[in-house]
Amino acid sequence: MTILNINGKSRKTHLPPDTPLLWLLRDELGLTGTKFGCGIAMCGACTVHMDGQPIRACVTPISAAEGKAIVTIEAIAQDAVGKKVQDAWLDLCVPQCGYCQSGQIMAATALLKQKPQPDDADIDKAMSGNICRCGTYPRIRAAIKQVAAKAEVQP
Ligand code: FES
Ligand code: FES
Repeated sequence: MTILNINGKSRKTHLPPDTPLLWLLRDELGLTGTKFGCGIAMCGACTVHMDGQPIRACVTPISAAEGKAIVTIEAIAQDAVGKKVQDAWLDLCVPQCGYCQSGQIMAATALLKQKPQPDDADIDKAMSGNICRCGTYPRIRAAIKQVAAKAEVQP
């Protein structure tokens, strides 16, 4: 049995320890906001946070998540920065089909929590692993900049 902390709750699973975290989230826990795209860590659709870092749930075994705090898109609005990111996404109508967008929001939130006022290079680096087949990149960048512009200047 593996015990995981997901969105602040303790969750038990009897899945084999090498099961990808994404399988647990979507199939066992019904947290379907996190998407399956490529399954090989290439598209970012499955991005969740593990101890605040963006990770690819499709290639992260549940054994690696034991003892860590996992946060998915379902709980990101409970985070002050995550809420601002979601609000900016709505403000600027970022999503098109929407499939990649939970991963995009998780990646953007992790970036802004680590660096409240990222420059273009920071944004490129942080978001380069999140692919959008609809090409919403300009609006993603604008939304990140909108959150950054409203961030308090860090001492
Ligand atoms: S589904 Fe995990 S990176 Fe594509
Ligand atoms: S909004 Fe369609 S894949 Fe990104």
